[in-house]
Amino acid sequence: MPRIAVILGSTRPGRRGEQVARWVMDVAGRRTDGEFELVDLADHPLPHLDEPLLPSMGQYQNAHTQNWAATIARFDGFVFVTPEYNHSTSGVLKNAMTTSTPSGTTRPWASSPTAPWAEREPPSTSA
Ligand SMILES: Cc1cc2nc3c(=O)[nH]c(=O)nc-3n(C[C@H](O)[C@H](O)[C@H](O)COP(=O)(O)O)c2cc1C
Repeated sequence: MPRIAVILGSTRPGRRGEQVARWVMDVAGRRTDGEFELVDLADHPLPHLDEPLLPSMGQYQNAHTQNWAATIARFDGFVFVTPEYNHSTSGVLKNAMTTSTPSGTTRPWASSPTAPWAEREPPSTSA
């Protein structure tokens, strides 16, 4: 059974994203073809990228990066719940994706780092 992370990409106090992520988890919970887990970036504080080697090499020197890499390595796929800040995703989500990419494994984020939020079609709720 594929394990899917629902990554909540806003961390500010009073964020609406938490409500959206819980709705996504509610919809996902009705599916039988995957196991879904909420990954709240507020629980994974990361500084701006501070690794000397390319993330795709997977040789992380800092404990916070190692912990984050271990978290995303547990999953086969990802759903991103992102706010729109200044016509883009949040800095915290972009930084999290930049800091550790699963492309050193068989599970890349995507061919393009902008792909997750380039898709504008709303998700189907009929599953
Ligand atoms: C710093 C900031 C920048 C924003 N920029 C945009 C924007 O470019 N386009 C837009 O439609 N909404 C924008 N908004 C509105 C947010 O999309 C909206 O407040 C949303 O609830 C943010 O998600 P959050 O509540 O999980 O942080 C912005 C909000 C903030 C706080």
